[in-house]
Amino acid sequence: MQNKKLIRGFSKRNKEERIDFLIERLGLTEQIRNWLYTFESDDSDFQRIIDELSENPVSNYHMPFCIAPNFLVNGVSRTFPLVTEESSVVAALGKAAAFWAERGGFHTEITGTEKKGQVHFKWKGNPEKLAVLFPGFREKLMADSFGITARMEARGGGITSLELRYLPEILPDYYQLDVSFETLDAMGANFINSVLEKLAESLLQIFAESGLFSAEEKDCEIIMAILSNHTPGSRVKVWTECPVSELAGLDGTANFAEKFTEAVHIAQNDVSRAVTHNKGILNGIDALSIATGNDFRAIEAGVHAFAARNGKYASLSHSEISNGQFRFEMEIPLAVGVVGGTTAVHPLAKFALRILDDPSAKELMGYLAVAGLASNFAAIRALITSGIQRGHMKMHLSNILSQLQVSENERAEIQKHFADKTVSYSEVENFLNKKRNAKTTS
Ligand code: MEV
Repeated sequence: MQNKKLIRGFSKRNKEERIDFLIERLGLTEQIRNWLYTFESDDSDFQRIIDELSENPVSNYHMPFCIAPNFLVNGVSRTFPLVTEESSVVAALGKAAAFWAERGGFHTEITGTEKKGQVHFKWKGNPEKLAVLFPGFREKLMADSFGITARMEARGGGITSLELRYLPEILPDYYQLDVSFETLDAMGANFINSVLEKLAESLLQIFAESGLFSAEEKDCEIIMAILSNHTPGSRVKVWTECPVSELAGLDGTANFAEKFTEAVHIAQNDVSRAVTHNKGILNGIDALSIATGNDFRAIEAGVHAFAARNGKYASLSHSEISNGQFRFEMEIPLAVGVVGGTTAVHPLAKFALRILDDPSAKELMGYLAVAGLASNFAAIRALITSGIQRGHMKMHLSNILSQLQVSENERAEIQKHFADKTVSYSEVENFLNKKRNAKTTS
């Protein structure tokens, strides 16, 4: 029976009709329509691009597009484009970049670019028979997918391995076609998924038409075909180092390097701390991946799985002191692209890549890892010295002032008053009310 309350065919409504829907649902006035349009671009070509990124848009949702200079990466100075709503992230990254630029900067090394996907299927025949026959199927599977892989292969990419796995411990009669890919400068999600769906189709054909299987054995059930965001074969290392003596006394902390290393050690051994520690790393990685049009949910999923690779979720970064030298490092999986997808259509994503001098996917992996380590360094530096709230809330003050709709004079007065104080919404509001009351009674 159809649920009459369900709204069907909503995506067929145009923007006006979708806003009509909101006005009616929320009991709003017509004014909301113009208000929603104020967030849109006057450039209709650009607006069309944004509208087509998703379904059912009613407006644009803005985030600041920021830049942070002074990232010295493998000896070259870079400016990072960053998109984040967290006010302190860009300031923290800028500070960490400048700090390390004076100490040799960040170093990166790519240790792999392999991406993976699987065709998950069930087959009730003899697993040994399939294991024996499978090498003979590989050629046909590869040949059948050639229509999709040809262009990628011409550029040096494509399928790099195709294996059969029998995994009855997961489900009875369950198998995987486990496929590895090289996708060069593309993140490759669409490419990989198209290839996997083609492989699934060919597999069914092999069972049905090869003449190698009995009537019963012809029956193969494809469960799904999808890439994996677990990309431990696509990895980047990043590190930075300096003599411990250069850190002594930093921010008034005599044993800075030791305290820093202890803070990282805690994150390596305590899950509650590790999750927050890694969130600080992803503050930087996400900001750069959003700016460059990369899929930050895929990155997050892969990075968190990697953080738990030894059976216990732990810090992604590592810090050590050896022979008077402080070293801060991290190795993480990243599957990103600089061609195709959002990077190809969003003008600001293209511009972000231009700011980075149009990097290859490998170079972008390095920059993302640098953003992660820099953001982690800045967070721990604040945590072990002044605490996080001072810097955080100072940046947050401008958000509070926007919410309180203060005048220019009030803004200046409040900023001066809170320059050396820890900020909270209620304290700012109380201060503002007192000032306003004093003015009306005088
Ligand atoms: C806040 O966005 C991130 C931090 O909590 C990270 C950390 O605790 O290391 C400051």
